[in-house]
Amino acid sequence: MRVACLGGGPAGLYFAISMKLRDSAHRIDVFERNRSDDTFGWGVVFSDQTVENLMRNDAVSGAIIAREFAHWDDIDVHVHGETIRSCGHGFIGIGRKRLLNILQERARELGVELHFEHEAGPDLADWRDYDLVIAADGANSRIRDRYEEHFGVDIQVRKNKFFWFGTAKVFEAFTFAFEKTEAGWIWAHAYRFDDDLSTFIVEMDPEAWAGLGLDRMEQPDAIALCERIFAKYLDGHELISNATHLPGPQAWLNFRRIVCDRWDYENLILLGDAAHTAHFSIGSGTKLALEDAIKLAEVLNRPGLTREMALAEYQAERNLEVLKLQNSARNSTEWFETLDRYLHFEPIQFAYSLLTRSQRVSHENLRLRDRDWLEGVERWFQSQAQGRPVNEPAPPMFAPFRLRGMEVANRVVVSPMAMYSAEEGCPNDFHLVHYGERAKGGAGLIYTEMTCVSPEGRITPGCAGIYTPEQVAAWRRIVDFVHEHSTAKFCLQLGHSGPKGSTKVGWEGYDVPLEGGNWPVMAASDVPWSPDNQVPRPMTRADMDEVVAQFVLATELGLEAGFDMVELHAAHGYLLSSFITPLTNRRTDEYGGSLENRLRFPLEVFRAMRAVWPAEKPMSVRISANDWMGDLGVTPDEAVEIGRAFVEAGADLIDVSAGQTWADCQPIYGRMFQTPFADQIRNEGRLTTMAVGNIYEPDHANSILAAGRADLVALARPHLIDPMWTLRAAAAQDYRQVHVPPPYLGGMAQLARNLAREAELKA
Ligand SMILES: Cc1cc2nc3c(=O)[nH]c(=O)nc-3n(C[C@H](O)[C@H](O)[C@H](O)COP(=O)(O)OP(=O)(O)OC[C@H]3O[C@@H](n4cnc5c(N)ncnc54)[C@H](O)[C@@H]3O)c2cc1C
Ligand SMILES: Cc1cc2nc3c(=O)[nH]c(=O)nc-3n(C[C@H](O)[C@H](O)[C@H](O)COP(=O)(O)O)c2cc1C
Repeated sequence: MRVACLGGGPAGLYFAISMKLRDSAHRIDVFERNRSDDTFGWGVVFSDQTVENLMRNDAVSGAIIAREFAHWDDIDVHVHGETIRSCGHGFIGIGRKRLLNILQERARELGVELHFEHEAGPDLADWRDYDLVIAADGANSRIRDRYEEHFGVDIQVRKNKFFWFGTAKVFEAFTFAFEKTEAGWIWAHAYRFDDDLSTFIVEMDPEAWAGLGLDRMEQPDAIALCERIFAKYLDGHELISNATHLPGPQAWLNFRRIVCDRWDYENLILLGDAAHTAHFSIGSGTKLALEDAIKLAEVLNRPGLTREMALAEYQAERNLEVLKLQNSARNSTEWFETLDRYLHFEPIQFAYSLLTRSQRVSHENLRLRDRDWLEGVERWFQSQAQGRPVNEPAPPMFAPFRLRGMEVANRVVVSPMAMYSAEEGCPNDFHLVHYGERAKGGAGLIYTEMTCVSPEGRITPGCAGIYTPEQVAAWRRIVDFVHEHSTAKFCLQLGHSGPKGSTKVGWEGYDVPLEGGNWPVMAASDVPWSPDNQVPRPMTRADMDEVVAQFVLATELGLEAGFDMVELHAAHGYLLSSFITPLTNRRTDEYGGSLENRLRFPLEVFRAMRAVWPAEKPMSVRISANDWMGDLGVTPDEAVEIGRAFVEAGADLIDVSAGQTWADCQPIYGRMFQTPFADQIRNEGRLTTMAVGNIYEPDHANSILAAGRADLVALARPHLIDPMWTLRAAAAQDYRQVHVPPPYLGGMAQLARNLAREAELKA
């Protein structure tokens, strides 16, 4: 096979090597525009796993690379005048130049033709003598851009500015240094990559960049400024630029995130950064490029595969890995782009948040890396929660939490879940057992299902309500049971179905209208949930008065029933949510249009409830923090304002859900997928939040809480299947202080023993 590799970076060189190793008869030409010793950048980092992959593919170059790697374990985070050091992180680094020289030498030895100072043309016609053309010409690939429409290229230019410097200062730990200037925060990512050199990437947001005058400063002045800002880390060493040919402002880059739907077109194949990029803060670009190269060479040389089959397999397999890394890289990029959110944290929590920013490193990963440090975080978290020094480490999920006069024993919450099992709105024995069981299961706080404020405010005929004396008595029985047999606090979620009312019970089809006996529905505007649902009547002021009165009565009845807390359901497309989202609120009066107007009625309801609910008891509000419809609907930025408005109206907790407000929305699901919204509302709005949505392991809960991404974590579906989720989590973490109903103590002890034994065997 005759192959042209356009670009002699890690991807192009390693692909050439990998092809030759599999069949020395291949003729491979690598065309590189630079000289063999020119290169941008300084060091690159890998994980041990990548080195193992390299060794398996080519033990010769792998061994040289492994021998020359600088290895370090510690991460230092410098912020607010403190240094937080954690260990066990296991990084290795090598100079980019040295890596390329090793690969060039190995490629030559295997018979690859290297053509330096050769600008590769972007037209396929220039390469018609070759069977395959590999676009390994990096993130700015000219040939990819030339055939852009065939690759489905999506490029996002990220907002922060960065400069990739080198320095002779040798950093013993991977160093993150955050410094405040008069124009804003500026920080460095620094690590050693050989005996006497380190990479030193300086990053900041565009406002700080312009504020410091870097948008018009020549390089020598910019370098001098950075050296002054980071003087205490550099110990008199200079920052070295290898982009001196560029005017000062142009040497500062914006990271470009590149995704391509397809990686091949005719006989042209994208490899490495030309196909995809991963933000430098997770240090995986070179790893991806090298692993792409191995895979592509492997499939092209596999007997029995046509070229089409080989390319399909290459993309199918690599795409998954790339998407996972790009996902983590996006989280990490966003963390640095929204740094302001976390700067009010104490240094220890700031460092924890930084270390877990990509969501690939969790609480338990950190324990494996550095148990002492993690236990320090746990002690700090418990001390904060208990308002006194605590010497014993304990999982963050088992820290108490106070909302007004109510203290919950731990941070686990049973999320509201409609059971559709009431008759005439009246809860029954099913509900007694259901809530009773979940209360005994150890969660600090349990929520009722959406309990409706009127018969027509129900979603389905099976929905529970609180508008008659019988219902109050039935709820009282359940509340008393919960209080008598558990330490759980009990929150009543109050709601009105609005446009999504008069539908079948969940398991007969969500949001599907009843076969018969439908009741009229109302909403902010005459926008039906779907073409099959009723067109709701736009609410009049008289309707509003009636609904406010119903919520007030329900709140009073909730007090009579003995609930500890009340939540207003203003999410998921129900009545109040139909006002908040612009997708369903088409009103032109003072209840539609601006956010202030759209919030007017929901806030009026909330304030009226707050006025009759005792001051010492807390209230929360559930919101959909993202309509998943881009700027057409509620965005997370707007959700911060929504949260603030409810807190000003007296809410103590924002229960941050998302979506279900527009039938055609496009949610992005995944582990903890709504937690970023709870994080944004909490840390940008400085509000108290509860996260919910695909949180299912104790490790998720602990990571969210310790990183300050939310104050409470709610789990819904995990509790459907396992009412004892919290007790099981306590046993798994060998945490003994949790309340266990006395008759169950034996079971708890046995579970803890068995789990400990299993963990020992696994270790
Ligand atoms: C600031 C920063 C820090 C980074 N840190 C790390 C890290 O720590 N770890 C890590 O793994 N990755 C890191 N990366 C990413 C890493 O540099 C890339 O992901 C990796 O180099 C991709 O390899 P590649 O061969 O695909 O592309 P490149 O390394 O970009 O190589 C492309 C080559 O093609 C050549 N070329 C381009 N156009 C032409 C043309 N028309 N004709 C001929 N030659 C051409 C270029 O000169 C270049 O040599 C970092 C990137 C940045 C920007
Ligand atoms: C069966 C079921 C019923 C639900 N009913 C309600 C409800 O009444 N009120 C509410 O706010 N959310 C309701 N939800 C949403 C959950 O509270 C939660 O936000 C969602 O299921 C995501 O959390 P999870 O991934 O832990 O299940 C319901 C979810 C399920 C599965």
